[in-house]
Formats: sequence, C-alpha cells, structure tokens
Amino acid sequence: MLKLAVLISGGGSNLQALLRAAEDPDYPARIACVGSDTDAPGLAHAEAAGIPTFIVRPRDSDSREEWGQVLAAAIQEHGVGSGPDPGLVVSAGLMRILPAGFVREFSPNLINTHPALLPDFPGAHAVRDALAAGATETGVTVHVIDEGVDTGPVLRQASVTVRHGESESELHERIKELERPLLVQTVREIAEGGLVLPPNGG
Ligand code: GRF
Repeated sequence: MLKLAVLISGGGSNLQALLRAAEDPDYPARIACVGSDTDAPGLAHAEAAGIPTFIVRPRDSDSREEWGQVLAAAIQEHGVGSGPDPGLVVSAGLMRILPAGFVREFSPNLINTHPALLPDFPGAHAVRDALAAGATETGVTVHVIDEGVDTGPVLRQASVTVRHGESESELHERIKELERPLLVQTVREIAEGGLVLPPNGG
C-alpha cells in the first residue's frame, strides 16, 4: 500500500478524488496526511475523512528553504518520505514552488498536477496563459517535481479542446474534470509499479 502525503492550497477537489479512490479497498494507495501552506478550504475534506492535516505557513519561516524543511518534517512525522518504503508526496493544487532542499529530500517520490500540457504554459496562471496565447488545445499534466518550475519529467497527460469564448474558470473546470481521474490513475500506476518514477527527478 503506497502512503501518500497530499499538499494543497485551495478547494481540494483533486484531494477529494484521491480520498474517494482510497475508500476502495482495491485502490493501492492511502492518504497518510494532508498539508497546506494556508487555511485551505480543502483541508476540510481530509478532516471529514479523519485524516491528519497540518498547515506550514511560509511567513513563519525566515526563508523558503527553511519553510521547506519544516514542511518536510511535518510530512515525515506521518511516515512519508524516508526509509525503505518512502511513499509519495502529491502536490495537488499547492500554489507554491517547493524549495530545492525539499525537492532533493523527496525526489523522485514527489509529483505534481498542473493544468496545462507541459512544457507549454508552466507557472501559476497556466489556464489564463493558454487562453491568452490563443491555444486551441490545452489540458493537464502529472509530472515528477524537479528543481525547476513545472519542468520535471512528464508522467501522464490528458488534453482538452478550448471552446470559443470560454472563460478561464470554465476552461479550468473542464480541465479539472480530466485532472481528477488522471491523478487518481497515475497514483494507482505508481503504487502498482507499472509506472516507475525516474531516479533523481530526471
Ligand atoms: C488544479 O487544477 C491544479 O492543477 C492547479 O490548481 C487546481 C487545484 O484544484 N494547480 P483543486 O484545489 O484540487 O480543486
């Protein structure tokens, strides 16, 4: 059984999809803890499921690296990230760039879901940027996190055709309809060993 630490910043619908999947005894992963950088509304999904949560705020640390160390320690307290059975850290809507020391600590057992077809439209405004660029197709990417911004090895992608005149929130919602099952399926494949994470994130 693969142990997961899920990191979120927002509403947590991807987290909710993983929680629902993990209710199935046949799903090969379980959520050990859910962390955030802020009072994310999505933490309520974990609390409702009786899963431990924590908040590690960047402003309580002197530097990004120190924030990463505190976040890493909180995850490790829940049995993810060390030893022969390190589990997997899943950034599912965490709106922060993880510092290099954190990435080195967990890599390659550290994945992210991003609402664009990487390498196109990395960064925090992927859906807006795709619309602004006039993209006719965009989508979602699940990838290993490396020390860059949305640059790590791509694991799985799904694409969406952009509709004429749709808003950023409409397009993002349609992307998320694909994103949730793609994340659940990718975690399943990692847990079952059919998808092997590239060593050192590269
Ligand atoms: C997802 O589209 C994720 O890729 C992006 O933010 C969104 C989070 O959605 N970084 P939710 O909080 O899981 O509903």
